[in-house]
Amino acid sequence: MATKNILIVPGDGIGQEVTAVGKKVLDAIAAKFGHTFHYDEALIGHVAIEATGEALPAESLEKMRKSDAVLFGAVGHPKYDNDPSAKVRPEQGLLKMRKELGLYANLRPIKLFDELLSASSIKPEILRGADILFFRELTGDIYFGEKGRKNDGDTAFDVAEYSRFEVERIGRKAFEAARTRKKKLCSVDKANVLETSRLWREVIQKLALEYPDVEVEHQFVDSTAMMLIKNPCRFDVVVTANLFGDILTDEASQIAGSMGMLASASIGDGTGVYEPIHGSAHDITGKGIANPLASILSAALLLDISFGMKEESELIISAVDQVLKQGFRTVDIADASTKPEQILGTDAMGAAVLKFI
Ligand code: IPM
Ligand code: MG
Repeated sequence: MATKNILIVPGDGIGQEVTAVGKKVLDAIAAKFGHTFHYDEALIGHVAIEATGEALPAESLEKMRKSDAVLFGAVGHPKYDNDPSAKVRPEQGLLKMRKELGLYANLRPIKLFDELLSASSIKPEILRGADILFFRELTGDIYFGEKGRKNDGDTAFDVAEYSRFEVERIGRKAFEAARTRKKKLCSVDKANVLETSRLWREVIQKLALEYPDVEVEHQFVDSTAMMLIKNPCRFDVVVTANLFGDILTDEASQIAGSMGMLASASIGDGTGVYEPIHGSAHDITGKGIANPLASILSAALLLDISFGMKEESELIISAVDQVLKQGFRTVDIADASTKPEQILGTDAMGAAVLKFI
């Protein structure tokens, strides 16, 4: 029986709807296992800009630092997407949070629930058995290097930068994880072109000497993008830089059937942050149809990684599995065989999972 402080940070769009469901699942776990979870809430993204003028107010950051873990939703608003001149943007809140909390390792497990084999646009026989754990570096690369304009604004630049230290610490996390799985690590870079990638490869090669039990391969990002679709089962643990990881994990989400299924953990020096990999999805916001399973599975990751609550975490995953086995789907993972009465909205899907907890 443990007492923990969990900060709920729903952010924008469907982040609000799905995080509310994730929190209910945490509540049910606390009740079942006799834990006490204290909750607080904080603002980030567009809602924070509206309320305070800043995408990540100091108060939110302070609350994050003080909490034992953060359950996060999404940030973003279409009004900024078509306004390249906006100085304050929701995404800045997310990037600042990652940097300030030292969240350098983003774990994105791509696991296909068997029942969703037909929800993917990839053929079932190619998908069956796919189980990949991505380690995306999260506080470096072109995301955080110098950026700006020159030549009267007619030329723009974003600098990609990595230090040996930054590559080594994410690399180590990936090697350690590989040891607990199939002892296979694929490091993804673009070392045929980029200097940052050449440093990346050099560091991973050196680290490999410390992990002789792990089989390491180096792949270029373009061919990895191709192989993920052609033969996803050849991968186990994958480690890559920030931008490559951003792109490859959206692609890999199709292995799991939908972006709506994938959870992620961002960990590093202090408080861990757990969030769906999907965004704020303003096109479906307020309709009550968003898939809450990624937020629910993020809550499971939170319990496992930040609190060491394995049994609790596994109960959530098996509850999701049961619900899918019974044929219930949100609209994003439904297919021709789903009966109309089995298509559930956000809250009903949450309630269905709660029944198995
Ligand atoms: C993600 C998102 C973010 C990123 C955006 C919202 C800034 O796409 O978490 O993958 O690019 O990292
Ligand atoms: Mg992304």
